[in-house]
Amino acid sequence: MKALILSGGSGTRLKPITHTIPKQLLPVANKPILFYVLDQVRDAGITDIGIIISPETGAHIREAVGDGSMWGCGITYILQPEPLGLAHAVKTAQDFLGDSSFLMFLGDNLIEGGVKNFVREFEKRSPDTLILLKDVPTPSLFGVAELNGKGDVVHLVEKPEEPKTNLALVGVYLFTPEIHKAISRIKPSWRGELEITDAIDQLLKAGKEVRSHILTGWWLDTGKKDDLLEANRIVLDDLLKRDVKGEIDARSKVVGRVEIREGAKVENSTVRGPASIAEGAEIRNSFIGPFTSIGACTTVEDSSVGHSVILENCRIYRIERLEDSLIGTGVELQKADERFKAVRLFVGCDSCLEL
Ligand code: G1P
Repeated sequence: MKALILSGGSGTRLKPITHTIPKQLLPVANKPILFYVLDQVRDAGITDIGIIISPETGAHIREAVGDGSMWGCGITYILQPEPLGLAHAVKTAQDFLGDSSFLMFLGDNLIEGGVKNFVREFEKRSPDTLILLKDVPTPSLFGVAELNGKGDVVHLVEKPEEPKTNLALVGVYLFTPEIHKAISRIKPSWRGELEITDAIDQLLKAGKEVRSHILTGWWLDTGKKDDLLEANRIVLDDLLKRDVKGEIDARSKVVGRVEIREGAKVENSTVRGPASIAEGAEIRNSFIGPFTSIGACTTVEDSSVGHSVILENCRIYRIERLEDSLIGTGVELQKADERFKAVRLFVGCDSCLEL
């Protein structure tokens, strides 16, 4: 069994931050989303991993993931020259995949509890495909499954205007090589992409066995700013353990499940968990509230930050209440005008804002 992780695409819905950082490398609880995906693939016992990259962000992904030794896995990078769809990505990876069954995982998706049980079930029951579904409030943003009275999937449609169910296709799939034949039979969709949803629908039409599972745990598709903040909230809430390695002075309070990594300093401040403060960050005369991640070497001074993701090398100075915000790397933010109390921002990298 191999794995194919998709880390191409241009991250349109997360611009401007994705001008400089691929969306799969955006951090959740101070760890890139793609690293959680790699953890989950490795935990499912798969060590032969292909990663689809794009010409725009491929170098960045390679640099972050390296040769896979951090996970004890072998990595093959596969360049998809243009973002022509998930099924096109599979086509591009055909040499790597050969006649192996494989787990396909979208590099910006996270699911609670990992994929080990699904991989095991796929190996035991050997259907042609196993898909995961999740009941969502906005199914028209996803691939959607239609079921018959017995609960079997009978039809799949990509982003239907009028979805027949609320069951969205999660970005985790298990395939046998049968999928390659199905892909060769599909045509590009209205958005000009070869859709994996259409290929699986082809398998259904050909009478192949497509098993499905409805996920009950969380599924995070980190495509937009609020999704990323929500992912940060859930992962901090669910997975973070108290771990204080940095320095905290006697005037500071660190309450609850807080991670303070090596080289970080907290002076005359309160940090209330769940929150993560990365390596070399400095928090001075400030309040860091729950569901916040402060990136490496970022300084927060005379400020209060809550429910936000701040990337590395930023300087936040004299901001009375920064909340629900996603701030790119190297941003300087300081306040000169007393009128602004709470600020909500989505700022790309290397910006300088005086409020
Ligand atoms: C893709 C798939 C869609 C699936 C979604 C999950 O959508 O086409 O079927 O529900 O991933 O994240 P895209 O991210 O390309 O819009």
